[in-house]
Amino acid sequence: MVHRAVEGQGWQVVGLHKGTAGLLSRPPEAETLTPHRFEGMLLRMAGTILGTTNKGDPFAFPYPDGTVRDRSDEIIEGFRALELDGLIGIGGDGSLSILRRLAQQGGIPLIGIPKTIDNDVVGTEVAIGHATALWVATDALDRLQPTAASHDRVMVLEVMGRDAGHIALSAGISGGADVIIIPELPYRIEGIAGKINALRAEDRNFALVVVAEAVRREDGTPVVQGHSDSGQALYGGVGHYIGRRIAETTGAEVRVTVLGHVQRGGTPTPRDRLMASIFGVHAVDLLAAGQSDRMVAWSGRNVVDLPLAEVVDRPHRVDPQGALVHTARGLGIYVGEDPS
Ligand code: F6P
Repeated sequence: MVHRAVEGQGWQVVGLHKGTAGLLSRPPEAETLTPHRFEGMLLRMAGTILGTTNKGDPFAFPYPDGTVRDRSDEIIEGFRALELDGLIGIGGDGSLSILRRLAQQGGIPLIGIPKTIDNDVVGTEVAIGHATALWVATDALDRLQPTAASHDRVMVLEVMGRDAGHIALSAGISGGADVIIIPELPYRIEGIAGKINALRAEDRNFALVVVAEAVRREDGTPVVQGHSDSGQALYGGVGHYIGRRIAETTGAEVRVTVLGHVQRGGTPTPRDRLMASIFGVHAVDLLAAGQSDRMVAWSGRNVVDLPLAEVVDRPHRVDPQGALVHTARGLGIYVGEDPS
């Protein structure tokens, strides 16, 4: 992206530190980015060299005394102070939604790039980060299977994904899971136990179970560790609930792994490196063509773009009738109850 903007367009590129949080500082926190900064290591790195923020919604910025204040004008002032002409925003559904509101309020040309391990951004087949998280989750199943088989155990792996089950479903199929539980499909403990007992009847001495973090208890209550500053549920722990219920129902020895933030690190897969490169170049090209309020996307083996209005506040969840659920069922995986 930086190479395309600097060498291709002759622009100066400024990287904002900590996202919108950097624009609240005075002077705003930012640095000039040169193609040189990206040579060598960056393609191989996870995370961000600029920092980011996922707390403090600028339109309802939380203060320690519990009050909230609209700080959007301060962010737009910070943007103006840096004398910027346009913005390329990288993030998931929530971040792109906030950036769009800021851009509209400040008259800022904006192009969005979808980036979230959850892959829940509508309009694109892939978001940056998902492929690497999927790889980590699949690798975890590869590492759990031998000990499961050695000790006659049921291994439960809880993966991230927020309210979407994309990581769980894809990793579960790729990693040979026997049971995949996702928030989009209702499950019954008896259904899970039935699958495990059927495996035992075939002399299989282990089972692999993948649970998405937003899956609820059988009574419909969510398992959360608390809430973020912006009020978002902090998931984590439903794997232990499912594991306990499997042990109670089947008598199996169960162990639970909560994969957590491990999924957000590691060496990016080639697919993620490709997507980041493709999206970055296309985002610059769109700004150069005078386009705004659009998101770059991957669709039908090509890079495309679509209005951000069609993207924000419409999270893309697993389609219960889609190819992956069909595939899982076709492979004999218990993937929840079939509502049809
Ligand atoms: O949206 C990406 C994600 O990793 C989710 O899968 C997860 O629920 C959440 O972020 C974790 O957020 P935090 O890093 O704030 O704990």
